[in-house]
Order: sequence, then C-alpha cells, then structure tokens
Amino acid sequence: MCGIVGYIGKKPALPILVSSLRRLEYRGYDSFGFFVLNRDSHFLLKKVGKISEWEEKLLKVSCQGNLGISHTRWATTGEVNEQNAHPHFDCNKEIFLVHNGIVENHQQLREKLIGEGHKFSSETDTEVFCHLIEKYFQGNLEEAVREALKEIKGNYAIAVISRKDPNKIVLATFGAPLLVGLSDGEYFIASDPAAIISYTRQVISLDDNEIAVVTPQNHFILKEKPIEQIDWEIKEAQKEGFSHFMLKEIFESPAVIQEAIRGRMDIERGLAVLGGLDQAWERLEKIERLIITGCGTARYAGMVGEYMLEEYAKIPTEVEVASEFRYRKPLLDEKTALLAISQSGETADTLEAVREAKRKGTLTLGLVNRVGSSIARETDAGVYNRAGLEIGVAATKSFVSQLTILALLTVSLGRKKDMSLVIGKRILEELSKLPQLAKRVLEQADYIKELAQKYSEYKNFIYLGRKYNYPIALEGALKLKEIAWKVHAEGVCGGEIKHGPIALLDEDFPVVCIAPSDSVYEKMRNAIEEVKSRNGKILAVATENNEEIKKLVDDVIYIPKTLEMLTPILSVIPLHLFAAYLGLELGLDIDKPRNLAKSVTVE
Ligand code: F6R
Repeated sequence: MCGIVGYIGKKPALPILVSSLRRLEYRGYDSFGFFVLNRDSHFLLKKVGKISEWEEKLLKVSCQGNLGISHTRWATTGEVNEQNAHPHFDCNKEIFLVHNGIVENHQQLREKLIGEGHKFSSETDTEVFCHLIEKYFQGNLEEAVREALKEIKGNYAIAVISRKDPNKIVLATFGAPLLVGLSDGEYFIASDPAAIISYTRQVISLDDNEIAVVTPQNHFILKEKPIEQIDWEIKEAQKEGFSHFMLKEIFESPAVIQEAIRGRMDIERGLAVLGGLDQAWERLEKIERLIITGCGTARYAGMVGEYMLEEYAKIPTEVEVASEFRYRKPLLDEKTALLAISQSGETADTLEAVREAKRKGTLTLGLVNRVGSSIARETDAGVYNRAGLEIGVAATKSFVSQLTILALLTVSLGRKKDMSLVIGKRILEELSKLPQLAKRVLEQADYIKELAQKYSEYKNFIYLGRKYNYPIALEGALKLKEIAWKVHAEGVCGGEIKHGPIALLDEDFPVVCIAPSDSVYEKMRNAIEEVKSRNGKILAVATENNEEIKKLVDDVIYIPKTLEMLTPILSVIPLHLFAAYLGLELGLDIDKPRNLAKSVTVE
C-alpha cells in the first residue's frame, strides 16, 4: 500500500532510488515519483504506470544530487494521474513529501488551509501534510513537521525534504512502517527492508509517533533505538530463473513447510515446540476460547486452523474478519486469546483487531512472516513463519506456511490438553513428510499449465470444498479472481451448492471440486454428481489412487495421501498454480494484479 524510498549520502541519489523503489513495486504500482535535491536545483518527476516500465530510461537521466525521496503509489484518495502521484509539495515548491497511509481528516484540513490562502495542486489526502508543514515552517523542518502532525488524524509514514532546510530528510510514522538503513556515510530510507538489502543489512525501524532526522553524517531519533540485522539473502528478492515471483514462490512451498517445522517438532514425545509462545504459556494454558483473525488469504488459513484446533486441540475457536472485529463490539476477556494471522504483519485491519483485543485485556498472539513488523511487535507472543520474502502480490507460500504452523499450534495446544501421545506423534510424523509430498504435487506443473490453457476460455468458476477443504475452495477462488481477474470465481461449501449457487451452472460454468479421500469424500461425491447432472464441467483435486473419480469428472489433479487435517497444505498448491497459469494464459501480470497491493496498511 504505497512504498517509500529515500537516500542521503555521497553518491548520486537517483539510481539508488530507482533500483530500490522497483523492489517495492508490490506495495503499489499505479504511479510513481522522485524528488532529488541538488545544491541549487532540484529534479522532480512523476509518472503514471509501473516504475519497472521506466527503469531503463530513468537510469540514463543525468541528475546530480545526493539526497532524494521516491514513492510508488496505490491510490486511496484521488484518481490515478500525475498530479496525484507523490512526491507532493507546498505552494512555493519548497517542501517535498512522500506518504504511505491515509489522512482521515484531510477534507476539513484542506478546506481550512484553502481558507488560509494555500493552493492545492492534487486531489490527494497527502497534500495537506505539505501545506501544514509550510504553515508551521520557521527555518527548522523537524519542528514544522512536529507541529503539522498535531493536526493529522489517520495513519502515515512520511519522508520530507525542504529546500529551505536542506541536507536532511525528516521522517515520521504512525501506524505505517518506515525504517532507516545505516551504512558508512549514507542512509537509506524504506517502507520495507526488501528495498535496500543490496545496500545495507543494518536497519532501525521507527515506532509510532516517532520523528527522525537523517543527515549525511548522522541520524537522530528521540529514543535510543536498537539496530536490527536483516538476514535475508539478496536472492530472495530476485526471480532466480522463474518468469514471475508468484511462480517462484509457489515452487518454494516444499521449502517453506520445511522451514516452518524446522526445530519445532519433538516427534518421539509428540510435542511441537513453538519458542515464541514461551512467554505466554502461563496465560495460554488458562484460555477457554480462541479467536483467529486476519484478512483475505490469511483469514482462510485461520478457517483451516479453526477445524484443526477444534477437532484435535478441543479449543472452541472462531474466525473473525479483521475488518469487522472491532466494530462488532466483540465480547472478550482474559480467558480468550486472539491469534492474528498476517504475512506482512502490517495489515491495518488486523493490527487494529490486535489493539482492540489488547485494550480489553485479551492475550494477543501473532502468526506473522515479516520479522519486526507492527503485528509482530504489538502482540504479546507469537510464531514467525520463516517463509522468506514474498514479493508476488498474491499470498501463496505464506498461506502454505500458515497452515503448517497452525498444525503445529494444534499439537502444541492439544498436548497441553488431552491430545494423546499417539495422535501428537502421528500429526508430527505426517507433517515431516509434507515437504516431499508437496514436491510431488509440483511435479505436475506442466499438466496443470495445460489444464489452465484448456479452462482459460471460461469466464466464471465455482470452487467447491468441504470441511478442511472448504477454506481451500475460498482460497482457490480468491486466487483465480485476483490473478486472472478477467475471470470471476466464487468459493462455495460443498453442501451449500444446492441451496442456491447450483442455479448458475451449465456447460459454460466449470466447477473446481476439492475432493480428497477424507471423511467427507462421499458428501463431495454427491455434490459432484449434482453438478454433473446440470452438465457442469468439473476439474477435481483428488487423492492418488482414486480411480473412481475419473469417471465422474472431466479432469483430475492428484495429490498424495496425508492426514485429513493436513490435506489443505497439499490441495492448495495445484490451485495456486492453476490461478497463476490461467492468469498468464490471459496475458496478465500475475505478480501485480490490477487494483491490488501487497500490504494493505489502510483500513
Ligand atoms: C490474497 C492476498 C490478500 C492478503 C490479505 C492479508 O492473495 O494476498 O488477501 O492475504 O491482504 O495480508 P496479510 O497476510 O499481509 O495481513
């Protein structure tokens, strides 16, 4: 949801900003812009489109100046055009600013500032920052920023430069990420370490309400802050031979399962060891109810978790859409725990749900991929996915990892209750086989690609699943409609099709049935027969050796046999691939689907 990059040092700023901003394109790609300050001139460029399409041209631009800011936008307020692209500026083009977040009271502020004589040149909420800073500027930029922020309601990460107080970049955050990367005689500013890991691994993350001042010689943040070491490999931010990050990340599924379970299983004793929960155990042991929250794909992972935890750990569990959580006035107490699931750890709705739960004295836990992200920091305890950088806008490998960790959590909580050693051991043994089984699923990639070609002529799909694979039907449909967005898809619970959606079906409306050989297979077979008798075309995901299904459906993708509760981890992989290949077949950019951004840091 918008990416920010800044540089201050001895080198020419523009090439550094261009190459770093490109790595943040997943956060928004409607439009982009740069501001570079030189001693007596400046360079300002704003364009509609993706920075990757302009990279070559930009790298040839002759631009002096060792200090600059840049931004890639995912529009919230104001349509996509050059005026609304960042950086924004004040009336006299002396203050330049980039912003990630949303200003809730921008309309009132705009009217007030216009009344005071300020001239706006965009429709964005962001521009009010520039005029407020202009209003309060008396020679010192950070002082003006501090005064301006007192009037802002909403969330923000901003980076500001003033031509009248040059040689510094002023930063401020509230509810949106921003970090300062440290190197010898230079500083890098970014929304996400992915942007700057080729320049530095040492970063300081800003906390809410902090204002930082960065000059070529030093940085100043009010509070003494620890320097974090980013241990990602640069190759994680590269495609490594794949045409797209999404494909690369789906192919990493076996590796992320391995990483999720590494060092976390004591199979002999049937125990899952989740060190991140240690400090919360005393409270966790007393909980009588668990609420899982998240958005989109992360919520679907939570729904699989609900089935796992209720069946095996015997903990009453509910899943809540994070964006509804705090408006619904949830009944929370100290016997309830809230588990927030988020790849980015920055999703505003999920973060707000955590804050609401904390306000009510509820134990908060996080299942987060991004180390040091807001949700990771603000929850009482949690587990990291260790799934590495996910750059494709659609969540794929992070979902597989979330499911794996939810299975570990089930064992971990279940064994503290009445789960037997035998069951605990069984789940862990099966989990340890999953990386190999996931590899076998991926061996069918060429076949899945052919299926995607075959099905690419259809405009509508229904995905059907039951029990553990009902959330997988939702996830398969979500992935198809976001990645291959010319196609519409809905996920439906197998038992519900006859209560309405069946009216849609005919020979032009294929149904993807997730029907592994599990406790609800017979029920899924009934649904398949109902679809078939309406001439619907069926693509099934079924368990190896199920020969019968071939006679019932048009095409089958087989997955290896595993425990019922773990089947979603395998059944989702072909659906991720199917969505990716179908998107490619339709000529779409599967890494950056239309209208989406990877981390949604606005409500
Ligand atoms: C779908 C997708 C989104 C995210 C959702 C939550 O492919 O990527 O639905 O799952 O925006 O994001 P995180 O997990 O970062 O909180």
